[in-house]
Amino acid sequence: MGVKIVDTCLRDGHQSLFATRMTTPEVLSALEELDKVGYYALEVWGGATFDACIRFLNEDPWDRLRAIRKACPNTKLQMLFRGQNILGYKHYADDVVDKFVEKSIENGIDIIRIFDALNDIRNLKCAVDSTNKYKKVFGRGHCQIALSYTTSPVHTVDYYVELAKEIEAMGADSLCIKDMAGVLLPTDAYELVSKLKANTKLPIELHSHCTAGIAEMTYMKAIEAGVDIIDTALSPISGGTSQPPTESFQYALAGTKYDPHLDVKLMEKAAVKMTKVKDKYLENGMLNPKALTSNPSILKYQVPGGMLSNLMSQLKNQGAMDKYEEVLKEVPRVRKDLGYPPLVTPLSQMVGTQAVMNVMTGERYKMIPKEIGEYVRGLYGRTPAPVDPDILKKILNGNNDEIITHRPADDLAPQFESFKEKYKDLVKSDEDVLTCALFENVAVKFLENKYKLNEEKEEPVEINLYIG
Ligand code: CO
Repeated sequence: MGVKIVDTCLRDGHQSLFATRMTTPEVLSALEELDKVGYYALEVWGGATFDACIRFLNEDPWDRLRAIRKACPNTKLQMLFRGQNILGYKHYADDVVDKFVEKSIENGIDIIRIFDALNDIRNLKCAVDSTNKYKKVFGRGHCQIALSYTTSPVHTVDYYVELAKEIEAMGADSLCIKDMAGVLLPTDAYELVSKLKANTKLPIELHSHCTAGIAEMTYMKAIEAGVDIIDTALSPISGGTSQPPTESFQYALAGTKYDPHLDVKLMEKAAVKMTKVKDKYLENGMLNPKALTSNPSILKYQVPGGMLSNLMSQLKNQGAMDKYEEVLKEVPRVRKDLGYPPLVTPLSQMVGTQAVMNVMTGERYKMIPKEIGEYVRGLYGRTPAPVDPDILKKILNGNNDEIITHRPADDLAPQFESFKEKYKDLVKSDEDVLTCALFENVAVKFLENKYKLNEEKEEPVEINLYIG
């Protein structure tokens, strides 16, 4: 059978290397080849791609999805879905989650990879149930749950195995180990994959990043332990803070029992096109050559690459780059105080901001971002370990009764119809309503612009499939 490959160059690859700026024509430029390579799936959509489309590219992410679907009749399309946060940064009511799942599958997604930053499975349940529901409606769809991988005294192999059993019982079709920081060590991967295989029947996928320089070794050990699927990126969009290069795995595993059976010639053709795309972002400065080199010190601080660059720009803005080391050391301390949240959106940004504030004010927790206050009150879900009691006291400031222990979205009444009403003068479809629900002002500005443009031009803009 061999190991299956999901190529991430059209989502995580450019998200990790050049801030998700690849345009739809660039995405489409290599799809004729990519669609026939023999991948298990192409990862093409997620929170950052959606956000960057409307915020920076003036493109409709739903149009992009439909265009990819049309250009990709042979390969499954995968998206990343932040559980109850959908593609946004806060919790939404169940009816909005349900509608987003419905529209994602209807517009072309096959595999929905659902994760929760805190691995609180209550935050996954609605998205899982909706995916399973629309799978039947559309006769297409696959529900994958991703475990946010991190290291801490509570995040043991047993912790992940127990979580995996619950996930299997919830109705997932497959399970992904989502190592967003690229800190999963080869021997740990071997043990984790072996035990997950022994304790569940679910196909196991591994997603890591080359940030620390160990991902290829980790993938190989995971393959030996029986991992079913690995996430790699076509070579021009691989390495550094992105995924390991797809072609290398094809060469390394060819002729073995793990042979992925991908078409090397087609990948070469696609790589020529993607190299042009990458060169553009190198030239315009969006791709920092630093992002292409590995950074083993990640293993010391356990901080994802994307978070490092965020911290750097926060400190640069405040003219405090000399505090960089100190902030990096503060991040693991904040994580410990807060019960070891995995550093993935939105927790990575929140923990990073708290660490910067702790260092810049010279007094820990003198200033507390609103979101951290909400986090310790349970508004994001259950923390992996209890929050440090002293820190909790300081943050709550005597208001202990504000802590909730139920699922945060239980407090939210249905929202979809009220969003529809709120944006009725602007929206032309349920997809537009969802865009507005998730990205509010940014979405409003984008849609105003979009519909004004269309009035002026009359003819819809035809997307050119082949650039340059
Ligand atoms: Co990733």
